[in-house]
Amino acid sequence: MNEADGDEIAGSAPCLDGLFSPAVLTASAPIDDHVASLLPAEREGLAQASPSRQREYATGRWLAHALLRDQGEHDLAIPRNADRTPRWPTGWVGSITHSGSACAVAVSRADARLGIGIDLEPDRAVKPGLERMICFGDELAWIAEEGESGLGHRCRLVFSAKEAVYKAFHPRTRRVWRFAEVALEIDLDRESFEARLPADAGPAAVTGRILRRGGWIVSGVEWRREDAFDGEPRDG
Ligand SMILES: CC(C)(COP(=O)(O)OP(=O)(O)OC[C@H]1O[C@@H](n2cnc3c(N)ncnc32)[C@H](O)[C@@H]1OP(=O)(O)O)[C@@H](O)C(=O)NCCC(=O)NCCS
Repeated sequence: MNEADGDEIAGSAPCLDGLFSPAVLTASAPIDDHVASLLPAEREGLAQASPSRQREYATGRWLAHALLRDQGEHDLAIPRNADRTPRWPTGWVGSITHSGSACAVAVSRADARLGIGIDLEPDRAVKPGLERMICFGDELAWIAEEGESGLGHRCRLVFSAKEAVYKAFHPRTRRVWRFAEVALEIDLDRESFEARLPADAGPAAVTGRILRRGGWIVSGVEWRREDAFDGEPRDG
């Protein structure tokens, strides 16, 4: 959900420690002017975008390049596909997210993970009424647990977790899931969630992490190879 950040988080970037297993590498930074660092294949169509869009796009690539460089992978471009998904270099999967003033990226070797999803949100309530588009079934009861004042806040958590789930799976499934098709159960004490997935996902469910740190919400999902298509999620 792209919107301006409030003063409390402007200029900061979220801490991503504990969001993923060690198989996943992460980086975050405030959005800045990294357009000059883009590789030629990453510039296609960018000139038409607004300056702020160019900066958020370039910050994602700049962070991803640094992560890949640390693994000995130099000058690998991450262009955009026609459907806006990032095209990760052969042998890698990953995910990019930005929210107003900050950007976060997660990457993994493709022989370790089938997909990665990351989402970043300001830790504040969504606009009233949005819960009817995002939350369904038991999620509606869960967001209402803290009364009217907590409802929009909890809805933001559900939204963030669903976006991370969708971003982990969509590059392989290629299907647009509706919010009602993914059923979430969030455990705030454990900073984790379980998502039941649509039938075409492969696994029946996936677990994820959801952290609230320094005014940010960050959600992360790893689609593990061992959970690929067996219809039953496994631990670990
Ligand atoms: C793809 C989508 C999830 C992106 O979310 P967002 O709130 O706009 O933005 P974020 O900053 O978190 O993520 C944007 C990045 O995600 C990546 N992305 C875009 N479309 C993607 C997709 N379909 N799958 C995975 N990643 C995608 C891109 O890297 C993009 O950044 P970039 O253009 O700078 O490279 C959202 O726009 C969307 O298309 N939603 C479709 C329906 C939906 O959300 N369903 C959820 C049901 S569970």
